Order: sequence, then structure tokens, then C-alpha cells
Amino acid sequence: MVFDLDMIRAYYAGMPAKIEAARKVLGRPMTLAEKILYTHLWSGEATEAFERGNSYVEFAPDRVAMQDATAQMALLQFMQAGKTKVAVPSTAHADHLIQARLGATKDLQEGINKNNEVFNFLSSVCDKYGIGFWKPGAGIIHQVVLENYAFPGGMMIGTDSHTVNAGGLGMVAVGVGGADAVDVMAGMAWELKFPKLIGVKLTGKLNGWTAPKDVILKVAEILTVKGGTGCIVEYFGEGAESMSCTGKGTICNMGAEIGATTSTFGYDDSMRRYLNATGRSEVVELADQVAEHLTGDNEVYSNPEKYFDQVIEIDLDTLMPHLNGPFTPDLATEVGSMTEKAEANDWPLDVEWGLIGSCTNSSYEDLSRAASIAKQAVDKGLKTKAQFGINPGSEQVRYTAERDGLLKHFEDLDATIFTNACGPCIGQWGRYSDPKNAPKNSIVHSFNRNFAKRADGNPNTHAFVASPEMVAAIAISGRLDFNPITDTLVNKDGIEVKLDPPHGEELPTKGFAVEDNGYQAPAEDGSKVEVIVNPESSRLQLLTPFEPWDGKNITGAKLLIKAEGKCTTDHISMAGPWLRYRGHLDNISNNCLIGAVNAFGGATNEVVNQLTGEKSEVPAAARAYKAAGIPTIVVGDHNYGEGSSREHAAMEPRHLGVRAVIVKSFARIHETNLKKQGMLGLTFANEEDYDKVREDDTFNFVDLESFAPGVQLTLEIVHADGSKDDVKLNHTYNEQQIGWFKAGSALNLIKKQNNS
Ligand code: F3S
Repeated sequence: MVFDLDMIRAYYAGMPAKIEAARKVLGRPMTLAEKILYTHLWSGEATEAFERGNSYVEFAPDRVAMQDATAQMALLQFMQAGKTKVAVPSTAHADHLIQARLGATKDLQEGINKNNEVFNFLSSVCDKYGIGFWKPGAGIIHQVVLENYAFPGGMMIGTDSHTVNAGGLGMVAVGVGGADAVDVMAGMAWELKFPKLIGVKLTGKLNGWTAPKDVILKVAEILTVKGGTGCIVEYFGEGAESMSCTGKGTICNMGAEIGATTSTFGYDDSMRRYLNATGRSEVVELADQVAEHLTGDNEVYSNPEKYFDQVIEIDLDTLMPHLNGPFTPDLATEVGSMTEKAEANDWPLDVEWGLIGSCTNSSYEDLSRAASIAKQAVDKGLKTKAQFGINPGSEQVRYTAERDGLLKHFEDLDATIFTNACGPCIGQWGRYSDPKNAPKNSIVHSFNRNFAKRADGNPNTHAFVASPEMVAAIAISGRLDFNPITDTLVNKDGIEVKLDPPHGEELPTKGFAVEDNGYQAPAEDGSKVEVIVNPESSRLQLLTPFEPWDGKNITGAKLLIKAEGKCTTDHISMAGPWLRYRGHLDNISNNCLIGAVNAFGGATNEVVNQLTGEKSEVPAAARAYKAAGIPTIVVGDHNYGEGSSREHAAMEPRHLGVRAVIVKSFARIHETNLKKQGMLGLTFANEEDYDKVREDDTFNFVDLESFAPGVQLTLEIVHADGSKDDVKLNHTYNEQQIGWFKAGSALNLIKKQNNS
């Protein structure tokens, strides 16, 4: 048993009283999302009603999950917290770093050889600090979480945006940055703006070629990639209950594609079946005792308009299969309308690859429905026109699918079975040797994201998202506009044949089986486990605690860059090839602010180093100032730091000697990340003061000694001609956050508190 039954038991035991308290303060029936949120308050029972979309609330999540790319920095930071063990059950999953190229056996070995150092590091840190480690090949984080850890009514955070997948088992599961995961693992609260609520009522029942994937492809069309921002999407209705648990997972998974905080479903029979089939009948017994609290109140679902901020209704009886894309997951086309649309937009109609897998659609049910199409193709004398690739979601799914002959149906069509890992979903696909110059083409996949270059690095690949069974049918036909409901195909004997609708098994009749699920339990006593990081490594570097504040005003600071216009976390810390250095702060700092547009001259990654008067790349200039003992500041425009919650965007400037980031306005998560890393994140009290900042200015804080909540700070700007401007700066630091600044970082403070 890898899940924590005692934790689940304790949570369910406290649930009725907490819900009663929340009902009292709300004075009305509750949605499922509200029940989960109000029963996970850091402060315990609810004493006030929070304003959706406005109140910042502290929560106490039950679990943390991390994937290998993001876990490196999260765990390096956690090691700084001075704890001997994580405060909540946590897992790390080796899934993102393995390439898909030749097939599972060879690719897995190559992945291990290439990333051995990172995997060994993750394995030993997990071992030491009580974290479960799922080894390379064990599976994709969100499938493994659904199979082993998710439970109805639970709350988890994960350092991956598709953590939301666990909503399929009735959780509120949210993707966060590593810094948030570190807080929760270190025993601190997790803060979230209380979300707004979107209700999606599902009527009817899926049938024929339509799958759960089509529900979310339709929702994405309705809400677009931004429509779910700041919201929890709650699905309900007879249609919801008629779907499998993993199908619900697919729908929740792609909630990330509409920007939703998360999505969830009420506890029902499909969840009971799934929990039982995955060895968790004890959870079913416990959940059944509080079943009424694990779904929204009847009154809410009878009058959804009254209780949700927005309501959408979808009739599953009439819903058609969809293909969404290219380049964005909300561009929906119903099967049958593709010919016209593709011709009008010049999308290549020939399909070169069909890929089934990713955390979105790699369950046993997904494979079995797609395999039923593959089997038919062979039985009816058809050959696949496109190439086929399959990534099973977990070793348990793979092993069972192999035992039940499902993988053989794909192999009969010459499919390549890749490792149980992310593979092509995250660009880890050895499709081309020179992707930048690869030709225009179409592919279809059952993944969630289809931005340019996402799968294969080729900007000319038009990727369309569809259900696994549609991917199978389209790959066999080789045509993007193939409509299996109406169209026929010609087989090897020249006879026209038609594919019957897919059929599959929600769960394996003979039960799941696995020889080695790839799980490594942590040591009982981690104190003797040594975490080894080679000091010569280019990929991993132990963190050195940031210096505490010396209690004096920061003076004589120089401007590193005045960023103009949009400056997202990608501009501050680019992704792509830099992914390699996510565990090495000094090396990844060489991408610091290289995407930001310099307000002086409009170039990127080009500033004037005031020490030499010469043009310089931004990281090089920062290193020069740091070496000379000169502090620096960064000035920015509106919504500075929008985008992801990547903590590297705060850690890199801090590492390179930036002391303050002063902007017109912040994206909130980045502002918090700056605070956590002991930086000053400040805003101009008068936006126009942004214009007073010149390239060769010197900056002096004059009243930092009296830094206090709600009190403005003053910055003296000394221009090169000797003239001066005093600029007032606002901030949102509370007492505790000022403590982070003084200690040098939030982690330094936690460590200090542990030791005192
Ligand atoms: Fe992996 Fe793609 Fe999911 S990268 S976690 S399979 S979205």
C-alpha cells in the first residue's frame, strides 16, 4: 500500500463538522468545490465566508506531487528548510526527461544513461526526506497519482499544471510552482485566491465515437484558453455519473487548457469501481460513510444558476467527436466539418503520425477503446497510413494492457510502444534531427497541448488533439478529415470497409496486474541517507542560502535592466533548452532576463554595463556588478512576471545580485515568489515615475530601516548629471514577509525557526 490511509481517515472524520461550520457562515447549500475548500482551511473550521475571486485564503493540502523537471529545484530548496521529513505525504515522478525515439526498452535505457545524475539525486533526496519516488518507466505523474493517491474530497498541489487530472477522483488538485510545494512540504500553509465557480451540467450519455475527451474539447471551444482563469470547474448531472473515473480524469486534466485553477466531479459509482480496481477498497469504505459531503448539495445541482458564477450545459447524446487545433487547444472542429476548414486554412490533410498517451489519455480504458479500432483495422485488411506511437500512462496500465493483448493490436499495425512517460507530449520526441527546418505536416494526438513545436520542435507541425479512438481511426486512414461515422476505407483487397464504433473496457475484467510498478518507498530513517551532488555537475547544484539583510539601506545600486512592455516568467527565465539546468541555479541564471525588452534601445539581452560603458548581455552585466560588490535593481512595466509560477524567475535575479524589482504592477504569484526569495518586490506609487528611471542612474533606498506593513518606501534616484528624484514605492509585505526579507529568504526564516 503506497497511499496514506490514516491521513484519509482523519480527514473524513473531521469533514462533517467542518462542513457544518462552513454551511453556517455561508447560510446556503454548498457546491462540491466549496466543501473541499472549506474543509481544508489552514485555520481549521470556517469562521467567515470568503469572497470568490477576491479573498486570499490559506489552505492545508493533503498531498504534494512533483515531476522530475520541477522537483529538482523544489527539493534543492526543501533541503534548505532544515527539516528531517516532509510535513505531508509527497511523491516525485521521473517522467519528463525520457525521450521517445526507438521504443520503450532502448529509450528508457538511454533516458536513464543521460539523466542518471538527476534521477539518482531525486531518488536519494526522496529516500532521505520521506518522499515516495516513482522511478523512470513507472509512469506519468498524473496517471500514477490517480491510480495510487487521489481520493474523493482531497486537496493536493503538484508542481505540474496537469495536477488537475486528479479531479477525476473528486479532488481539488492544483498545479503550482516549486516554491509553493516547498512551503507545504515544510509544514507551511498554501495560499490561493478563493476561486470562482463554473458549473458544467452534463445531460445524456456518451455514445458511438464520442468520448470524454470530446466533452473537454467542447468546453475548451466554449470557454477558450482563458475562460476558466481563476475558476474551479465542477461537473455534475447524469452524464457525469455515466462516465468512467479515468474519463473524468481526462476532462479535468484538460481544464488546464482553459486556464482553470482546477476541475472536479462528485463521488459516484465510477469512482468506487476505480478505487476498488486499483486496490483501495478501504478508501471506498471510508468515503461511503461521508458520501453526502463528497458531492455538491442537491439544491445546488437543481438550481445551478443560483450557486455557480457561470453555468454551461452539454448534451452528451448529441455531442460529436472533435479535433481541436492546430496550435491552440480551443480551436474546435467537429468531425465531418474538417475538409472545408482545413482547405480554407491550408492545413495539411495528410496525417503523418497518430500518438496515443500523455497524462491526459493513457488509461486502460483509453488503450482498450483505441485498440478495438486497431484490431478492426487488422481484421478488415486495412493498413495504417500514418505512423503510430503509444505511451502507456503507467507500468500497471502497460503490463495489464500487454497481458490482455491490447498492445499487440497496436503492434500489428507497426506501432511503436514508447516508455511509460511523457515523451512526445513535452517535446521529448526524437522525430527529427533538425526540427527547425522540418517540413509542414499534420499529426493527431490524444495529448492536451498542441502549441507550435510542443511535440517535435518543428514549428510547421500542425498538431490536432482528439480522443484516443479518433486518433487511431485518423492514423489508420491517414487523413485529417476522415469521419469514421460516415466514411469508408479501401482495404488491401480493394474492398470498401467501414470501422465500427470503438468499444472498450472501463477496467480490466481480470483486474490490474504489474510485476514491478517502479515505486521506491522512502527509508524509515532517512538520517543516514546521503544526498550526493557532484560539485562539478552542470545540471545540479546544492543551494547556498541567500544572505540575510544587513539592516542597512541599499545604496549605490545600478540598473540591471528597465524592461518595457510584456515581461513574463518566460522572458525572465526561458524554458526550452534551459530545462536541462533547472537543478543548477548558477547555470540556469545564464538565461536571466534574456527575453526582456530593454526600454533603452528596444533590444533583448542587451544592456549597457555601467562599469565599462560597453554593451553586454544581461546575465553577464549582472555578474559583473555582483563581482564588483554593486547591488542592482530591475525596473518593469505592468503585470511583470505573468505566466507560470516558475520560482527560477525570482531565484535567478536574486542569485545574480538583484536586490529590488520595481514595477508598475506585478503578476501576484511572481510578486510572492520574489518575497519568498528575500527580494524587494515594489511598485511605483505613481506609475509615471517609471519614466524617471534612466539607464545610467544610481539608486539609494533612504528609509528601508523602517520597512513596515502598509508604509511606503522611498527611493532616491541620482541621475548622471547630479540631479535627483525621490520616488515613492508601494509594497504589499506583511510582517511575516518582511521577516522573509530580513532573513534573506522564507526558507532561511523557516530554518531559523526550526533551530530556535
Ligand atoms: Fe507529461 Fe504531457 Fe502530462 S508533459 S505530465 S504527459 S501534459
